[in-house]
Amino acid sequence: MLETITAEEAGFCFGVQRAVDIAIEAVKSYENKDVYTLGPIIHNPQVVKKLENLGVKAIDSIDEIDKGVIIIRSHGVEPEILNKAKEKGLHIIDATCPYVKNAQKYAAKLVNEGYQTFIYGDKDHPEVRGIYGATDKKATIINSKEELLEKDFSQKIGFVAQTTKSPTSYKNLISEVIIKTNELKVFNTICNTTEVRQNSALNLAKKVDAMFVIGGHNSANTNRLAQICKNTKTPTYHIETADEIDFNWIKGKEKIGITAGASTPDWLIKEVIEFMKEEEKDVEMEEQNDEVLEETMEESEVEESEEKESVEENDELTQDEIKYSDNDIADLKKGQTVKGTVVEINDEGIYVDVGYKTEGFVPLRELAHEKPEDASEHVDVDDEIEVVVLTIENDEGEMILSKKRADYEKAWEDIMEAYDNEEIIEAEVTKRVKGGLVVNLGVRGFIPASHVAIGYVEDLEDYVGETLRLKIIEVERENNNVVLSARKVLEKEMEAKKEETLEELEKDQTVEGEVTKLVDFGA
Ligand code: F3S
Repeated sequence: MLETITAEEAGFCFGVQRAVDIAIEAVKSYENKDVYTLGPIIHNPQVVKKLENLGVKAIDSIDEIDKGVIIIRSHGVEPEILNKAKEKGLHIIDATCPYVKNAQKYAAKLVNEGYQTFIYGDKDHPEVRGIYGATDKKATIINSKEELLEKDFSQKIGFVAQTTKSPTSYKNLISEVIIKTNELKVFNTICNTTEVRQNSALNLAKKVDAMFVIGGHNSANTNRLAQICKNTKTPTYHIETADEIDFNWIKGKEKIGITAGASTPDWLIKEVIEFMKEEEKDVEMEEQNDEVLEETMEESEVEESEEKESVEENDELTQDEIKYSDNDIADLKKGQTVKGTVVEINDEGIYVDVGYKTEGFVPLRELAHEKPEDASEHVDVDDEIEVVVLTIENDEGEMILSKKRADYEKAWEDIMEAYDNEEIIEAEVTKRVKGGLVVNLGVRGFIPASHVAIGYVEDLEDYVGETLRLKIIEVERENNNVVLSARKVLEKEMEAKKEETLEELEKDQTVEGEVTKLVDFGA
């Protein structure tokens, strides 16, 4: 049973949560106005997209708009941008994190009191640009001890730091200048959220079989969290959404740790946990299915020999007739695949007449790989279908069947046949994952990125929802592994086309062609 443990501190920090709440509230309060954020509200594309769907649009510059509501994100901005927004008559909602506001306030105070003011931080980070702006650009930004030591120092020095800096590095930096001045004033503007989150991820990573770090691939704090977890040697996966999870990452694991960057909302964390549970159910079911099928194979060997004896006694009946003739439920075995006719569809599932003087029930969750809302999406009354017997008789005396498992077996049969015969098959791409695409073959199939097309594919996402023609290049039933290639199909077709064209070409023939490349020696 897979256990998922979420780090004590994970996901949205106070400042980010506040900014997102302010943005949602703004859409409700200013129904008749356009609502914008200056830059994406957080480094998380999923949240930005959700807000966009609600009506909050991210812009890069104040110059892009002349009216509406502008929300200043948690990083804050330079005063000159606020002034420009005011001049334009925009309605400003300031969602700058109070900790960042403090850093701005203390930096301005140091400058006003005549201190040579240093801001310890990344000069390109919007938060640092905002703090710098608050000092009328009179402070000096440094991002390392080396940069600091290159400066000349006055007799009054003051410091503030970017809120996400490490406290240890800040202390080290300060210790360098302590003897180089008469007066030193240091404001601790570091927000401890980051450190608490990092420690909590580190402790968890040491206790689990694998760590999942959820957050934007571009988010610096999420990348740092992933690095901290990786340093423990626990396998660590940095994902943005549940779609990126490869079920092999959780297969065989007992404890999974989950942490998330400060820009990752709770719903995204929950989505990942739910996804893992679903994946685990599928893996368990496939394993059970394999066990049941093994048992069935052994049992059918016994059955076969009994049937043989029976045939000898009663040679008027064929093998099939023997198997079905006495119509006795006792002849059915758990794990057996049988044919049946759909006799009823209801909200809970379907009833199937399996010809054993009984009807079995297929619950919705056993109808298809993804539990449908409505059984009639998959079957109609009178349809003949194959089902696997899960339980001969449950507590309520009902036989429980699975169409999903029968389909799964059939899918494997088709895959093995296509592989053996080197057939080209068609399958729909269901999602993009790290390193390639996933297709639905009735079982999960994987196309490595290098096999999606001839040449480099810029954005694999473009293929999601497309049906591709594919060749199976690797199959391992025991590991549930099917690897496919669209490139091989395309290459073969290209080769055939080339041969065909070359056969048709003759000397002195006039043909039309497209210039594809110009080189020094020709075209
Ligand atoms: Fe604010 Fe700290 Fe978050 S500074 S934005 S609460 S990481």
